[in-house]
Amino acid sequence: MAETWDEVIQQIKERLDIVDVVSEYVVLKKKGNNYWGLCPFHKDKNPSFCVTPHLGIYKCFSCGEAGDALKFIMKIRNMEFKDVIAELAEKFGIEVPKYHNNNGSSRELKEQMLTATMVAAEYYHDLLIRQKDSNAEAALKYLTKRGIGTDIIKKFHIGIAPKAYTVLYDELRKDFSNEVLEKAGLVVKSEKGGYIDRFRNRVIIPIQNENGEFVAFGARALEKDQTPKYLNSSDSLIYNKGKLLYGLYTAKDSIRENDSVILMEGYFDVISSQAHGIENCVASCGTSLTADHVKLLSRYTKSRRIYLSFDTDSAGQKATARGAEIIKDVFAGLGDIKQFDESYVASDKDKYACEIRVIAPPEGKDPDEFVRSVGADAYKMYMENAPLFIDFQLNSILKTKDNYKTPQEKAQFIKQIIPVLSEIKNRIIRSEYIDMVAQTLGIDAGAIRSEMKVFEHANLPQTERIIKNVTKKDSIIKKAQKNLLSVFLVNDSPYTFTQINELIGDTEFDDEILINVKSTIDKLIYTVNNVKELIEHLYTEFVETPEAQEVLQELIGLSEVYRGLGDEDFKNVILETIAKINHCKRVEETKKTKQLYRNISDDDPQALKIQIQLRDKIKKIRQKSEKI
Ligand code: UTP
Ligand code: MN
Repeated sequence: MAETWDEVIQQIKERLDIVDVVSEYVVLKKKGNNYWGLCPFHKDKNPSFCVTPHLGIYKCFSCGEAGDALKFIMKIRNMEFKDVIAELAEKFGIEVPKYHNNNGSSRELKEQMLTATMVAAEYYHDLLIRQKDSNAEAALKYLTKRGIGTDIIKKFHIGIAPKAYTVLYDELRKDFSNEVLEKAGLVVKSEKGGYIDRFRNRVIIPIQNENGEFVAFGARALEKDQTPKYLNSSDSLIYNKGKLLYGLYTAKDSIRENDSVILMEGYFDVISSQAHGIENCVASCGTSLTADHVKLLSRYTKSRRIYLSFDTDSAGQKATARGAEIIKDVFAGLGDIKQFDESYVASDKDKYACEIRVIAPPEGKDPDEFVRSVGADAYKMYMENAPLFIDFQLNSILKTKDNYKTPQEKAQFIKQIIPVLSEIKNRIIRSEYIDMVAQTLGIDAGAIRSEMKVFEHANLPQTERIIKNVTKKDSIIKKAQKNLLSVFLVNDSPYTFTQINELIGDTEFDDEILINVKSTIDKLIYTVNNVKELIEHLYTEFVETPEAQEVLQELIGLSEVYRGLGDEDFKNVILETIAKINHCKRVEETKKTKQLYRNISDDDPQALKIQIQLRDKIKKIRQKSEKI
């Protein structure tokens, strides 16, 4: 008998043959070492679905879906990992360990927490659906009032937590230890010393991770004076709020299909929207958006088109602005943020690092209320016409213009709008905007332009400080260098290590740790076969200090955003990053040389000679950068 779930999974993997598994659903033809067929996960016209038996994996070169035999079964039969394992264990006659057979390993503990959470979710759901609890009727009434019928309750596994203190505990203590139940956040120690249920008298919204496993709960108060309105599971071994998005499991196919995602604020925003056919939406779980959330989403949208659909109140507006900043920050170094619609310009060849749009219907309702009272079609219309974040920002400021009448007030207004205008990179568009603002306010465009110069000048020292790396934050050049190195660590990248190295050429790295990473990679690329091995070797051969470990982890994180890029995009991103590094270098070099030039004393007999040499040097640098 297998002692642990790890062993069960291992034994199952050994017995599964990827070609057999896939062949049950796809007609495969052998070509060389691989098998090819029509992809079952999208409408495939030519065989782009490839199975590689010796690696035990499949990959669709058209839609990008990839994984091993277990993932294939989960995906094609829409099953959860646990269920697939249970079914296969039975099929292969592998005896499975009992849930509460804890051998102390953390993997084992995690497995039990996952199972306990799943059992709890099913239990709460069952109480509601079969009306087994005295609270169920009130909860059903409440949900019906919110437009949530049985189908939706079933799709999202919504449940009810009873009023009494130990209903769940009494049910689960038979199969799980107190430690497991407490760590999973299902029960808490009571003052008297025993355990009581954590969630009571609440509508239960189970939270699934990316793989569909139940890991936590959001629990909505049933009564008006009950606080807090939402009680959420705390972070645990199986739940990290900062890295998980509610609804992603049910949204991910749609996010891929639409190549876009809508970020919402609340559980019910996602539930109502998905139930009404707007499926590519997710929300964070009672916490604000993090860089990890954004990275997670970038794995599913190639174009990184993100819609922010938050409340329209002032808290919501702040969340929108904050969200946009986080998104921009994550993708900085990948290229420009989309700042204007193609209709403005002749060429549509521009590639963007990301595209941020804001859905803010003037009705001012949250998405949940909006789709229920106004309708999903109207919401989709607002989505199709959603302004880019920069336009949204400008419009929100312009909307308040009537509050500014006196010259002093107008000056105050201009102060607000100038930082936004100065973000617009395209000079023509920026100029158009300045004219538009001037016209709307009835002031001279020239005045705005000169104010902008003052603003940009005042902000210059700050950027210079960043370049000099005095601040704790990475300088632009260091960030770009990190981005460049992270390209080696991209899973399923369209380029081989050697190809990437050729592109990078003799681009130099400044930071000692980065120089080290690069030289280690240079050595390793001839001996490792894939990214996984490269990372493993980097860990063993390069990481000696906590700082190095931190950098490596950061590089792995950065690499996520390059995943899924096509050939051309991948190459362009690398070349753009190199160009950025070279540009920063030249700026720094010129500055240093100029400094030297200034410091030379006229009394020095050698001064004239040196000055001439330096002037030539500056001239050369300038000519070089003009060429590029
Ligand atoms: P809102 O207060 O905007 O409520 O919280 P909502 O989502 O519209 O909820 P309903 O429609 O009144 O039921 C937005 C999100 O903030 C988190 C939850 O994730 C919620 O969905 N939140 C809110 C909490 O975590 N705790 C709270 O007490 C309130
Ligand atoms: Mn709401």
